[in-house]
Amino acid sequence: MTNWTEIAKLDDIPKLGARVLQTDTMSIALFRTAGDEVFAIKDECPHKKGPLSQGIVHGTSVTCPLHNWKIDLASGEALGPDAGCTNTFATRIENGLVYLALNVSEAAA
Ligand code: FES
Repeated sequence: MTNWTEIAKLDDIPKLGARVLQTDTMSIALFRTAGDEVFAIKDECPHKKGPLSQGIVHGTSVTCPLHNWKIDLASGEALGPDAGCTNTFATRIENGLVYLALNVSEAAA
């Protein structure tokens, strides 16, 4: 079951930057692109758990601040230099508000 939860105003997330949402079980990084798309992925690099929210956003990917792996924001997949994947969450924007799809089982996982 998907619960759409209002989590932020779009303007609260800096362009080409991130905010961190803390849930009971994990940190979720919310990224805003130059084109005002918002992506939500687990704030943990698939390499060695670096804080992706502190990485540099370019296009629809982020570069991990620790060892420069590039992660696709839509899929959570590492684009290089090696393979790996982190969790992603669906988002939608309505009237300047950002909603996050939190699956009940994911939120409790
Ligand atoms: S922890 Fe992200 S590249 Fe190593």
